[in-house]
Amino acid sequence: MFDGNRRLQVMRIFVGLFVFLGWAGFVFGAEGPAAPTGLRCEYLSNPMGIDVQKPRFSWVLHHTERAQMQTAYQILIAGSTEGLGRDEGDVWDSGKVDSSDSTQVIYAGKGLSSGRTYYWKVRYWDTAGSASPYSASAQFEMGLLSREDWKGQWIEGNLLRKEIDLEGRIVRARAYVTALGYYELRINGEKVGRNVLDPAFTTYPKRVLYTTYDVTRRLRGGKNALGVMLGGGWATLGRRFFDPEVGPYYKAPALLLQVNIEFEGGKTVSVASDGSWKATQGPIVSDSVYDGEVYDARREQPGWDQPGFDDSAWSATQTVEGSKGVLSAQMMPPIRVVDSMVPRSIASPRPGVFVFDMGQNMSGWVQLRVQGPAGTQVTLRFAELVYPDGMINRENLGEAKSRDVYTLKGQGEETYEPRFTYHGFRYVEVTGFPGTPSLDSLRGRVVHTAVGAAGSFVASKQILNDIQRLIHWSQLTNLFSIPTDCDQRNERQGWMGDAQATAEEAMMNFDMAAFYANFIRDIRDAQFPDGSLPDTVPRKYGGVPGDLGWQTAYPLLCWTMWQQYGDRRILEENYDALKKYVAFLRSHAQDNVYRLHWEGDWVELAHTPGDYIGDVWYYYDVTLFAKMAQILGKSDEAASYGQLAGQVKDALNRTFFDAHTDNYANGTQTANAMALALDLVPKEHREAVQRSLTDDIVYGHNTHLTTGFIGVKFLMPLLTSLGRSDLAYDLAVQTTYPSWGYMVERGATTLWELWQDKVGPAMNSHDHIMFGSVGAWFYNALGGINLGPESVGYQHIRIAPQIVEDLDWASASVETIRGTVSLSWNHSSGVITLDVTVPVNSDAEVVVPPEVQMTDVVIREGDRVVWENGRYVSGDPGVEAATQDGKKVVFHVGSGTYSFRLTGGE
Ligand code: BGC
Repeated sequence: MFDGNRRLQVMRIFVGLFVFLGWAGFVFGAEGPAAPTGLRCEYLSNPMGIDVQKPRFSWVLHHTERAQMQTAYQILIAGSTEGLGRDEGDVWDSGKVDSSDSTQVIYAGKGLSSGRTYYWKVRYWDTAGSASPYSASAQFEMGLLSREDWKGQWIEGNLLRKEIDLEGRIVRARAYVTALGYYELRINGEKVGRNVLDPAFTTYPKRVLYTTYDVTRRLRGGKNALGVMLGGGWATLGRRFFDPEVGPYYKAPALLLQVNIEFEGGKTVSVASDGSWKATQGPIVSDSVYDGEVYDARREQPGWDQPGFDDSAWSATQTVEGSKGVLSAQMMPPIRVVDSMVPRSIASPRPGVFVFDMGQNMSGWVQLRVQGPAGTQVTLRFAELVYPDGMINRENLGEAKSRDVYTLKGQGEETYEPRFTYHGFRYVEVTGFPGTPSLDSLRGRVVHTAVGAAGSFVASKQILNDIQRLIHWSQLTNLFSIPTDCDQRNERQGWMGDAQATAEEAMMNFDMAAFYANFIRDIRDAQFPDGSLPDTVPRKYGGVPGDLGWQTAYPLLCWTMWQQYGDRRILEENYDALKKYVAFLRSHAQDNVYRLHWEGDWVELAHTPGDYIGDVWYYYDVTLFAKMAQILGKSDEAASYGQLAGQVKDALNRTFFDAHTDNYANGTQTANAMALALDLVPKEHREAVQRSLTDDIVYGHNTHLTTGFIGVKFLMPLLTSLGRSDLAYDLAVQTTYPSWGYMVERGATTLWELWQDKVGPAMNSHDHIMFGSVGAWFYNALGGINLGPESVGYQHIRIAPQIVEDLDWASASVETIRGTVSLSWNHSSGVITLDVTVPVNSDAEVVVPPEVQMTDVVIREGDRVVWENGRYVSGDPGVEAATQDGKKVVFHVGSGTYSFRLTGGE
């Protein structure tokens, strides 16, 4: 008792001291450059298992002063923490490198070895030449770099086990695991790691991803047991709609595993999957991504994943050929259970039928808690919708059975959650439950690729925040190692059109770099020999070749990675394949007009001819490719593709532009918006085509959209660039059909596939992300956060909020690869304020827009006047210049935090 109190007292003193020191450090903190943070290797923080021979590094800089840049850096990489602690870069010491690069810095040290862990840190020199302290140390670990490193064989089975006897003290152990399908690895009775639905869905015959786990503490001297459960996942799924050639990839799931163990004294042992493993049928009776899991707890074999279990009744495993494809390290965030949700309510629309409402359309499954006699079967059926009588409506699930069935073993309270399936749902129907369930009988388990948050956006108009919430949920629930279209019916595919339309929005909201880097590789894997691409990647569904709005995902995602993260390597690695793709497009063009098209726009309200849209994409793709060639220094090719783009543009105008009516194709919003956005319109017709477009929106459709998801992505930013953010805003906050707000008003908690509120058997998912592209417009236009002109990776930033009449304030922030960029603006009569953050090593133009009628504008930053009498007033640190652009004042600022305040008379 006394002891406890005393300990508490001492602890309090220590905690107090720490708090004080922390506070003192903050207040009296060292001036100048602070240690870099946010160290990333291949976009990941402390990745375990990467297989890039020359990984790239990035870090985020901090400084107590404004307008600071990095003038030099030094990276140290060591083979041990001790070495790094002594500032010894025995693996790589970059020395002081005069460079402003703080992202995409390429490793240039000794060859990196399979399975090794490397420790690194970095410091930088600021504008004045002062060095920062070194960052805290970070690490990265190499995976198995060559096929010869893999000793095991693919083995099939449902439940697999192997006992191993280990002699000596284990100092380090790693498990490298993959499956054709899904696996759960268990060691000595416990699940290893927190990944679920692992590995990622890839074109397995071409490439399979493995995950690396640190299992040092899981293993012990003496007897150990490895246990693995396998599920079919995407590897064994075959469906009516699938391309016959690609579904299913395999008849049964298979495992490839290797555990490398190092003992004190240097001895190493590898244990791998092979014919010596034992197999049996476990409690999972069946599993399917679409149909759910059937689990019979009576078939559990307690202790099967522990040493000493009697497996004499188990049979020997089958070794199989498995995948002959490349084994790649899974270098992106895994799928995880990221949250648990308490149901909002339970209803019992019929005797014995209980319908739980999660209050949110989500992806994942539920955890069931139940007690009852052995053999009792509880069925969980999932739905996005309910009928008016409270029963679940599953008409829009297509052929997905989307149900989990649990048979009780009858031993007190039992907890169950499935392993190898997932559902998209808001409602869960429970039948067969022994007794009456309570809210505690179910927990919603939110599952998706566990990408970190990157952005936030809020504004004074609630409907915008509601839409942002829908985008947030729809985006996350459609990340399952690939970007999917939906999460509930029998699709959940990597539809490329959906992916390209939403990539920018996703990158503003979430930390997506590693995810898309992987997906781009998936796309390359899926390319056909003629250079064309499928509609879905990995290819399961859709047309061959895909529609151009879908194939375009390939150049477009590469380009967006370049813009958002400055990823030059993506351009280099994909250049040849992209060139092949462009050659394919060219081979289907006659007189420079592309002639192979399917959908055009999709789920639109006014149809736009597909041949026109296909041709616009052709122009777009050739243009992007020419720019990539330029960036990579291939000026001849840049010139020749640039020329081709010009020819395509001319042909397009000859074929699809009607100079009498000033319309493209049939004059839909999509048709004119695409032409204007891509600068296809001859100068002398620009204004008239703009009028065609805005008239159609305002007068033709009473300020409503008629586009599908292709057109709307172009339309919103276009209106802003035309100076019509007011109109874009009106569309964004519209609440009558068709609009995003309409979905909110009708109770949506995720975005729908259709503008229409449909609940029948036809195609109408209630969780599609493709209309979510408007999220990028929220950040760019209302939130004001943009890449600077010609800039990549937020080196130069353009802060240009569209201060529309109806909004009092908006606030946006994005964790870019160079650090936080943020803007909060506020507008009340006669006063506009802008609070801006620009990361160290970046600069920005800050566009301050006065009210239209304002005269004698004065702008202060903090308490200094920086603009008066129509002129820039110098002297404020960080504010380097200002110019006038129409009525707007554009400040050029260096890094730091600024508070601008504009006032003016009328
Ligand atoms: C998918 C869409 C996809 C479309 C294209 C649909 O079934 O859900 O999102 O882009 O097909 O054909």
